[in-house]
Amino acid sequence: MIRRPRRNRQTEAIRNMVQETTVGVHDFIFPLFLIEGENKKIEISSMPGIFRYTIDQVLEEVQACVDLGIKVFAPFPSISEDIKDKYATESQNPEGLFPSAIRAIKQNFPEVALVTDVAMDPYSSDGHDGIVENGEIINDETLEVLGKMALTQAQAGADIVAPSDMMDGRIGHIRKVLDENGFQKVAIMAYTAKYASAFYGPFRDALGSAPKSGDKKTYQMNYANSREALIEAELDTLEGADYLMVKPALAYLDVIKLLRDNSNLPIAAYNISGEYAMVKAAAQNGWLDNDKAMAEILTGIKRAGADVILTYFAKEYAQYLKKQ
Ligand code: PBG
Repeated sequence: MIRRPRRNRQTEAIRNMVQETTVGVHDFIFPLFLIEGENKKIEISSMPGIFRYTIDQVLEEVQACVDLGIKVFAPFPSISEDIKDKYATESQNPEGLFPSAIRAIKQNFPEVALVTDVAMDPYSSDGHDGIVENGEIINDETLEVLGKMALTQAQAGADIVAPSDMMDGRIGHIRKVLDENGFQKVAIMAYTAKYASAFYGPFRDALGSAPKSGDKKTYQMNYANSREALIEAELDTLEGADYLMVKPALAYLDVIKLLRDNSNLPIAAYNISGEYAMVKAAAQNGWLDNDKAMAEILTGIKRAGADVILTYFAKEYAQYLKKQ
């Protein structure tokens, strides 16, 4: 035998030397859940280790993450039912929870970058990402709301706005609104290939944002399709996206690779709530090793071609790296 691949696996030093993919804290965007009030930090039962924070508490969490080298965050607001409405009006209130949190984080941590979620669902009394009329999600009227929401976030200090709604034409519309208002420097991270997934469950628990009726299949993509992701990628790129995202990540590694191979934009992947919850549940039962599973999953997502990973593991992985 002339070829013996095991020669390159003999010792840890050699294995590390030939390792092709490394995940570091710079690859991460850490999602943060926000709630109204003061001095509260409430764990999300379906996402052990992940909390909803009031603004004062989230500042402490950001500090802890910054100390570990995490510099990019994706905040999401949990809005009380009584201020939700059909048009997600609260999303445009500059004094609302979300813009206030953006301002507070940016004032205390100017070096941090914030990727802010643009979608109606946290604010919608229908729990949908668009305006619902006669049971239908109406596209073009929704764009108006999304444009105003993105502008409110940019005015509060968002560095990158991230439309997660999957309406047609939203990237172009948001780019236009931002530019007309002098926010040429605010980037857009498009949730380009966002699939209608069973794995969003814990996130919807965290925000109380589950659809009140129907599902999201008329706007989020069918998980059986990958060529369709290329259509979305082409449109988002033409409309001015600065990043393309694939979401979820684990059942969609081929889609991450497909976009990587067909675009020169940075590719983000969202390792979502259900993917996190599965690992936590199995680890709590002693069925698999949390740290090893976490490292394998994050490395796999990066190996598939993601430049950026949104993950609830970000802080834990940063702590794990310190121990290595
Ligand atoms: C919707 C949105 C979703 C997530 C973030 N924004 C999915 C959905 O409810 O349809 C899910 C993130 C996760 O599961 O971690 N605008």
